[in-house]
Amino acid sequence: MAGVAGALTKIGDLKGGLLSLSELHAFTLRVDPANFKIISHNILVVLAIIFHADFTPEFHVAKNKFLTAVALALAEKYR
Ligand code: HEM
Repeated sequence: MAGVAGALTKIGDLKGGLLSLSELHAFTLRVDPANFKIISHNILVVLAIIFHADFTPEFHVAKNKFLTAVALALAEKYR
């Protein structure tokens, strides 16, 4: 989650800002990039459970868009 918070500070250039993290996950950790989508959904579910009053449709769509962009940036080095 600290990594997600860090990504927020790089929201203007996620691909550039998360390049070294993408390299780490791709080449060193060898994480299957399919897991980025799974963890994004898991984060949404946990946020919905804990902050259900604040989990409006607008928050849902915005958070989903952000996490999808983070997952895409982290998968950048796999191509
Ligand atoms: C939203 C997606 C993710 C973000 C933002 C993220 C971010 C990070 C960050 C910031 C680190 C620490 C890097 C460092 O110590 O320099 C890390 C390490 C790691 N990540 Fe991710 N990660 C994500 C998804 C995943 C997924 C899906 C997996 C595996 C299924 C994974 C596996 C790991 C592993 C194994 C480490 C190393 C842990 C260690 O050294 O103890 N990450 N990640």
